[in-house]
Amino acid sequence: MLQIQRFAAQTVANVLSGTSLNATLDSVWRRHRQLTASERGAIQDICYGTLRHLGQLRAVLDQLAPKPIAIPELRALLLCALYQLEYSEAAPYAVVDSAVECAAQIGSEHVKSFANAVLRNYQRRRDVLLANAAALDEGRWSYAGWWIERMRRDFGAEAERILEIGNRHPPMTLRANVRRGSADEYLHRLRQTGLDARKLDNGALLLARPVPVDRLPGFGEGAVSVQDAGAQLAATLLDARDGMRVLDACAAPGGKTAHVMELADVDMTALDADAVRLQRVGSNLERLGLRARLQAADAAELDTWWNGNPFDRVLVDAPCSASGIVRRHPDIKWLRRASDIAGFVAQQQRLLDALWKVVARGGKLLYVTCSIFGEEDHATISNFAARHPDARILGGMPGRDGLLLPDEDHDGFYYALLQKD
Ligand SMILES: C[S@@+](CC[C@H](N)C(=O)[O-])C[C@H]1O[C@@H](n2cnc3c(N)ncnc32)[C@H](O)[C@@H]1O
Repeated sequence: MLQIQRFAAQTVANVLSGTSLNATLDSVWRRHRQLTASERGAIQDICYGTLRHLGQLRAVLDQLAPKPIAIPELRALLLCALYQLEYSEAAPYAVVDSAVECAAQIGSEHVKSFANAVLRNYQRRRDVLLANAAALDEGRWSYAGWWIERMRRDFGAEAERILEIGNRHPPMTLRANVRRGSADEYLHRLRQTGLDARKLDNGALLLARPVPVDRLPGFGEGAVSVQDAGAQLAATLLDARDGMRVLDACAAPGGKTAHVMELADVDMTALDADAVRLQRVGSNLERLGLRARLQAADAAELDTWWNGNPFDRVLVDAPCSASGIVRRHPDIKWLRRASDIAGFVAQQQRLLDALWKVVARGGKLLYVTCSIFGEEDHATISNFAARHPDARILGGMPGRDGLLLPDEDHDGFYYALLQKD
């Protein structure tokens, strides 16, 4: 356990200094190729859990160690160990013993006894420490204060439900490739393999428990993909039909590109500004037996990639704060600043303004974000519509005003479908 705690502490410390969890874990895996799948799983569990409950754990640690802890890795180690004591099934004595040994590797003998005192104190005073933590907003909800305020401002009585959903483990949801068989047929296949799942209204299949993809029957042969149920609305809303020219302007890793192509025989161009991420679109399509034109480009720089031929359908799954998918990326709750939102909005407006030019008359553009912050959603779209008199906002979106709030079954998304007059 010691090595696992050490890697988890280093990762959490790195995230708290500003690097994303995915990037940090990728670099740990690259530098330590000897780690087994189960060791990786254990490290991931501690990191995700600690970041999910960070507000509470910090509020507890601040009571146990009121003076600032100068060594970031030691502070992260204590947060990880508190997470394990409160939320994991690991034996408490093993968590404490191993964290204390780990502390000794990080610092001096003094650091070791400090870690020991903090964790044993937690075990003795747990109830009162947790009650005190829960009296603070950040300690109760485990989000940055500005985020909690914004949720209350925008969603009133619903805010706490949304915050709470964001702290749960995300479901694993599948999309049957209808070119290979229906959702019902795939559900039957899952059950025959001993995997329990249920079908949601839009045909998405929600697994009772997440499993590694190689346990999914036919995954390698393209029978199925992993995709959140809310994300599976995009392809249906885009309404692409056989023979249409379709652009997916922010395509990587290609979940929505592939879904559109499973539903209709379209001429697909998939763009992404990130050439490395674009490779994943290629491999996803290949697994599913689909082919598209892939291009690494800034979608807003039309001169660099567009030949002037308009598209019947354009999907703009814009870069955003990702505030609707925090249960999959709990680091976002701590890495985002309120001041970042304006930057995302500027990028979204820039992409929309440029990409509107490539939509054919009578064609449609579907704007998507995985954010539930209004500035990135309906404010972006109403500003856009005000600047573009030839843009008609079509109705029929799911949720309210195009907003799909996260719940047990799906993540949070915003959808706006625009038609060009
Ligand atoms: C929300 S993700 C897209 C997810 C994807 N549509 C899917 O369903 O799998 C946003 C993507 O936009 C890309 N992106 C950001 N700015 C861009 C730009 N100016 N032009 C093209 N792609 C951009 C990012 O690299 C990222 O892959």
